[in-house]
Amino acid sequence: MKSQSTLVFSNELPPAKKLGEEILLIYDQILAQKSPVFKKWSKQINLHYAVKAGEHLKDIEQFPKHIKAITKLTEQTSVKKLTVVVVGGGSVGDFGGFVASILKRGVRLLHIPSTWLAAIDSAHGGKTALNVGGAKNQIGTFYPADQILMVRSVLMSQPEARAYEGFGELIKIAFIEGGKLWTSLAKERQVNSRVLWKYLEPAVKAKYKVVGRDPQEKKGIRHVLNLGHTVGHVLESYYELPHGIAINYGLDFALRFSLQKKIMKPVEFEKIYAEPVMGYLLSPLRDDLISIQSHDLKEYRRLLLSDKKKTKSATLRFVFVKKAGQTVIEEVSVDDILIEICRQREEELHG
Ligand SMILES: NC(=O)c1ccc[n+]([C@@H]2O[C@H](COP(=O)([O-])OP(=O)(O)OC[C@H]3O[C@@H](n4cnc5c(N)ncnc54)[C@H](O)[C@@H]3O)[C@@H](O)[C@H]2O)c1
Ligand SMILES: [Zn+2]
Repeated sequence: MKSQSTLVFSNELPPAKKLGEEILLIYDQILAQKSPVFKKWSKQINLHYAVKAGEHLKDIEQFPKHIKAITKLTEQTSVKKLTVVVVGGGSVGDFGGFVASILKRGVRLLHIPSTWLAAIDSAHGGKTALNVGGAKNQIGTFYPADQILMVRSVLMSQPEARAYEGFGELIKIAFIEGGKLWTSLAKERQVNSRVLWKYLEPAVKAKYKVVGRDPQEKKGIRHVLNLGHTVGHVLESYYELPHGIAINYGLDFALRFSLQKKIMKPVEFEKIYAEPVMGYLLSPLRDDLISIQSHDLKEYRRLLLSDKKKTKSATLRFVFVKKAGQTVIEEVSVDDILIEICRQREEELHG
């Protein structure tokens, strides 16, 4: 296992023989339908394992069935020769990475992310995961891929509407990194696949800067990557939103909470929100989200408390933004977050 992955950015998929001696391809079955380029390319590889993406794939109850089939498929290959190549979004990456980390006690792993979310965020940093009893990411390993290939033609096979999902993680890392990544992204008037591809390399490098300082999440440094995720996760579960969309809301919440707590100065807040790109942080769904009822708050409370990043008491380490490139982590109580959700709702309704 490598501690640092090699990153490759290319327009097309490389010849399969360049990727490893014997390859087990674990891939999202949707790609065989949606991406003729992938379908043709995959024919160069003998060992295939197609999966249906989603949280069900990560369910531990399903895992024995998968690992039995995969063990059988690879029984003739040696640990030295075998490379697992995972092509898919975050769920396939979490599953395939976990498989590679335990198959024959760990084999070479390559990721080829097929969603923006995976290309910007989940394929990097070495976390693999399965869900237990409906709770997300309860078990897993740290297993950084040997190589991660960001392939333009694979990413461009996604419907354009998915760009908004990738945007959540892109803007998150831009707030954390600040500098040129933020100042140039801030000027973008449209968020589409072209823009995501343009910022992919600097965004990924910014994530590695954080991960590299705390590869196994032991020092708490990686916690900053949780920016926008505290409330984002609640909205994701409660409204069954795609992760990236929920993060867009979570980031907006975090910025406004930062202003309210006087961590961010009003002038800074206005400067950020005046940037053209900020128009994309809010989607038309927003109107539904602000009609919070009191029974919702109870459920929000339960979800906040069940978030795995909580501390022992009813407090959370919340990631605030002081200015682009400067984050501040502070303990806040779950009740403070709920009060702030209500305050922001009132502000939206009555200005
Ligand atoms: N390991 C980590 O550090 C980390 C970080 C963030 C998120 N995650 C995990 O990532 C998952 C979410 O990621 P995701 O949204 O990429 O999930 P996903 O794998 O479920 O993909 C989302 C959808 O896109 C489809 N899809 C994939 N590639 C496509 C393509 N090229 N064209 C058309 N459709 C395509 C999939 O079939 C699926 O329906 C969650 O399970 C989350 O827990 C992991
Ligand atoms: Zn995320």
